[in-house]
Amino acid sequence: MRLATLVAVVMTVVVAAWLVWRWDALPDTWSDEGIAMLQSLSLESLPPLPPDPTNAVADDPRAVEFGRRLFFDTRFSANGAISCATCHQPERRFTDGLPRGVAIGVSKRNTPSIVGTAYSPWLYWDGRRDSLWAQALSPLEDPNEHSSNRLTIIAIIVDDREYWRMYKALFGEASGVDTMFSNIGKALAAFERTIMPTPSRFDAYVAAVAAGDEARQAELFTEDEIRGLRLFIGEANCTQCHNGPLFTNNEFHNTGLINFEGEVPDKGRVSGVREALDDPFNCKGAYSNDPSRHCPELEFALTGPELIGRFRTPSLRNLENTAPYGHKGQVATLIEMLAHYNEAPDAMIGHNEAKPLGLSRRELEYLEAFLNTLAAPLPTTLLTSGSL
Ligand code: HEC
Ligand code: HEC
Repeated sequence: MRLATLVAVVMTVVVAAWLVWRWDALPDTWSDEGIAMLQSLSLESLPPLPPDPTNAVADDPRAVEFGRRLFFDTRFSANGAISCATCHQPERRFTDGLPRGVAIGVSKRNTPSIVGTAYSPWLYWDGRRDSLWAQALSPLEDPNEHSSNRLTIIAIIVDDREYWRMYKALFGEASGVDTMFSNIGKALAAFERTIMPTPSRFDAYVAAVAAGDEARQAELFTEDEIRGLRLFIGEANCTQCHNGPLFTNNEFHNTGLINFEGEVPDKGRVSGVREALDDPFNCKGAYSNDPSRHCPELEFALTGPELIGRFRTPSLRNLENTAPYGHKGQVATLIEMLAHYNEAPDAMIGHNEAKPLGLSRRELEYLEAFLNTLAAPLPTTLLTSGSL
């Protein structure tokens, strides 16, 4: 009996020790399903940018150059000091490091990155515009941003010999004010369509996994980063919304982020979709270059009350350059954002779609380590544009 007890105790200790040792151990390889998921997140899966038939100059290199100059030009603002790049700073991946954008006044929301945004059918946190060119018109007249007006902006272009030459080459002679204004948006959009993400360490890791190159995998990713990646696509269910090569489904969700105290709660998509439907510069409007007026996104857009408190899922590439986070810049650091997902508190308005995760602090740190592998260098075209 005593020997049997001893054997049982020893066995229990051995099994327990083995369990503790294996607890945090990683599987040696990725399953086929895992590899397919990783490849779907890699930049190599990014399809070519779809054409924008509503913008006749969307892919015209002359419009790209004209738009690039407009983007960095401060003359289109009421005080002559603000350009799009004041808030969308290339070196910060087109954000500004502030909770909310600051120009002539203070914007209502956080300045989002515009890297890869050309892939989204909706622009802004609440999707209140349905094309890049319709979006670009809005800050120019927003009293908190450029605070200018279309007549003044057109006059600056007509009076600038180089700009007027560029404008006429693309759009012909002067026409109605709103048509000319929409053309300015179309040139800005052509430039923004060239602002694309560059490969990160994560993309190199996926290539090494697909090639079965284990030495290269170990060079590229630490064990903690692999743990974070496994959580991201597995238990933590982040890919429910942050999926595809840009880590966004470009849809609207409520993740229960609190607005600032003392403010009216931000209704998000429920108001944004109404504004997009009413926008004279939308896909159905008179200024689209697509004679077919084929606008499925707008026609089939959801408008119900369930959209309250929903915001567009942001990309998770280059987060290291884009703090603070959330539609109002409510969250200062990544680990705080992960702690928020871990708790998934009730939403202030509407319903929080994310579920509590019950992860440990260490697991949140693994997730953070993985997210940091999505950092990537600035595109060289922007570095050499001479505008920085
Ligand atoms: C005051 C700083 C500021 C200036 C100046 C500014 N923006 Fe923005 N931009 C923002 C903020 C803040 C948002 C988000 C607002 C919202 O969602 O309600 C935004 C949103 C955007 C978006 C949508 C991105 C997305 O993925 O939804 C694009 C594109 C954009 N701006 C381009 C421009 C262009 C082009 C200009 C110049 C004509 C410009 N911005 C000027 C602060 C600024
Ligand atoms: C139900 C959809 C959904 C799920 C699940 C989800 N997210 Fe999000 N995520 C969003 C939306 C929507 C936002 C913007 C929220 C806002 O500002 O109100 C966001 C914002 C973020 C941000 C801030 C990015 C920025 O630029 O401001 C990070 C980081 C993030 N999510 C990471 C994660 C991680 C990691 C997971 C898994 C633990 C996750 N998300 C799960 C939809 C989701």
